[in-house]
Amino acid sequence: MSDLYFLGLDLGTSGLRALLVAEDGQPLGSSEAHYLISNPHDGWSEQDPRDWTIACQEVLTNLRETFPNEYRKIAAIGVSGHMHGATLLDKVGQVLRPCILWNDTRSHLEASVLDKAKDVQHLSGNIVFPGFTAPKLMWVAKEEPDIFAKVDKVLLPAAYLNFWLTGDAFADMSDSAGTSWLDVKQRDWSQRLLDASSMLLNSMPRLVEGCQIGAQLTPHIAQLLGLDGDVVVVGGAGDNAAAACGIGALGEGDGFVSLGTSGVLLMARDGYTPLPASAIHTFCHAVPDAWYQMGVILSATDSLNWLSSITGRMPAELTKALGSKINGPCRTKFLPYLSGERTPHNDAGIRAGFAGIGQKTGVNELTQAVIEGVSFALRDCLEALRQTGAKPRRLTAIGGGSESDIWLKTLATTLNTPLNIPKAGEFGAALGAARLAICGRTGHTPQQVMHAPDIQRTIEPDVAFQYDYETAYLQYSQSYNHLKGLQ
Ligand code: XUL
Repeated sequence: MSDLYFLGLDLGTSGLRALLVAEDGQPLGSSEAHYLISNPHDGWSEQDPRDWTIACQEVLTNLRETFPNEYRKIAAIGVSGHMHGATLLDKVGQVLRPCILWNDTRSHLEASVLDKAKDVQHLSGNIVFPGFTAPKLMWVAKEEPDIFAKVDKVLLPAAYLNFWLTGDAFADMSDSAGTSWLDVKQRDWSQRLLDASSMLLNSMPRLVEGCQIGAQLTPHIAQLLGLDGDVVVVGGAGDNAAAACGIGALGEGDGFVSLGTSGVLLMARDGYTPLPASAIHTFCHAVPDAWYQMGVILSATDSLNWLSSITGRMPAELTKALGSKINGPCRTKFLPYLSGERTPHNDAGIRAGFAGIGQKTGVNELTQAVIEGVSFALRDCLEALRQTGAKPRRLTAIGGGSESDIWLKTLATTLNTPLNIPKAGEFGAALGAARLAICGRTGHTPQQVMHAPDIQRTIEPDVAFQYDYETAYLQYSQSYNHLKGLQ
C-alpha cells in the first residue's frame, strides 16, 4: 500500500471539522473549530465566509502539529458543506456580502413565485424551498441591487472552500442540486432554470462529480497550510450526501435518519424518481449515476435545545430524566415547527405548538412531547418518501440526538423500523468527504471505499406500544391544519 493520506473537511453550520484518514480509509485524528451564525433580523441567518477560512487554517494547524509525518503526505482533500448557502463573489473573487444560509427564510415570497414558474419543479425535481439558493439571489436582486450588479460567481459554502483552496470555481452535483438551477436528472446547469430567476450561466461554478478531481491547491494556499503543491481537491458534496458516503449508503433503500439541528430521513436511490408534490428533496448523490431522496424537518435537536434554553436544563439532562424505556405516547403534544417546516408542509410561516397541557404538566411531559413531536415529524418524512416508491432496507441513526436511548426507542417505534447504531468512531460527513478524496486520487470506486460502519446495536420498535404510537401519529398528522388555523 502506498503511503498517502487524505483530508475530509466538514464545513458545518456551527463549525468546521477536519478529519485525517489513511488510504485504507482508517481515521487518524480530527480537529474542530467553531464560528457563529448571525441573525440580524427575524428569519435571517448569515455567516461570514472569512470565518470558514480562519477555522480551516486553525484545524489544519492542529492536525499538522499532531500528525506532522502523515500531514506531509496528504494527497487529496474533499470538502462537505452545509447546503444551499449563497456566497456571492465579485470579478476578483472578493466576497460581496455575508453568506445567506440554508435556514434563512427571508426569500419565501421569491421562492413561492419561482416555484410556480413553468418547468421549474419539473427540471429541478424539487419544490423551490425558501432555503434554496435561487430565491436568495432573487431577493438580493430586489433588495440589494448594487451588490447583485457586482455578482460574478455564486458559490455554495463547500464550493467557496474549494475556491479558496484552489482559486478555481467548481462544485459537485449533490450540492448543486439544492440550488434550483440544476437539471437534477441530467446533472447539468439548466438554462431554462437560470432564466427563470434571471441568472447567467457564467455565474455558476464548473460542475464535477463529488469523487472527481476539481483542481490543485494554489501555491499560496499550499504554502500557507504547509501542504504539497500537487495536493488535489475533489468535487466534494453537500453535507447530507457526504454523510451518506460516510455510512456507505450508496444503493437503493440504504439510508439514515439524522437527529441534528435539522432532522433528515435520507435514502439512496438507484434511479431518479422526483415527487415535488410530497415536499421530498430529490438530489444527485455525490457519486456518479446515483441520486438520493430525503425528507427534511427544520427543528430536530433544535426543538430540544429550545426547551433547554427556556428550562435552564441541558438537553441530555432533560432526556435522561425520562429514563430509558418508553411507556406509551404522552398526552401533551408538540408540533416542532419552531422555524417553519419543509417536509411535508413547505411552510416557512408556520410556528410550533404545544397542546394538551394540564395543571400537572411538568418539564418531563414537555420533554417527552418534544422528542415524540420530532419523531412524528420524521415519520411524516418516511411517509412522503414511501410515496416515491422508496422502501427502507437499512436505516442508520446518526446525529447528536441519537445519543439519547429514549429518543431512539421512540423514533424506532414511531417509524416502525429498526435503527442501526454504529460503533463509536467516524462515520459522518467528514469521513464521507475524505472517502470522496480517496476515490478521486486513487481511482478506487465508491463501492470499494464507502463501507457501512460496524454496528454496535440495533434498536427495534417496541411492539407493545406500536398500536398506541400509530394512533398518536395519525392524530399528529391531522394536527397541522388545526395549528395553521390558529396562526
Ligand atoms: C438540506 C438542508 C440541511 C443543511 C444543513 O436540504 O438544508 O440539512 O444541509 O445541514
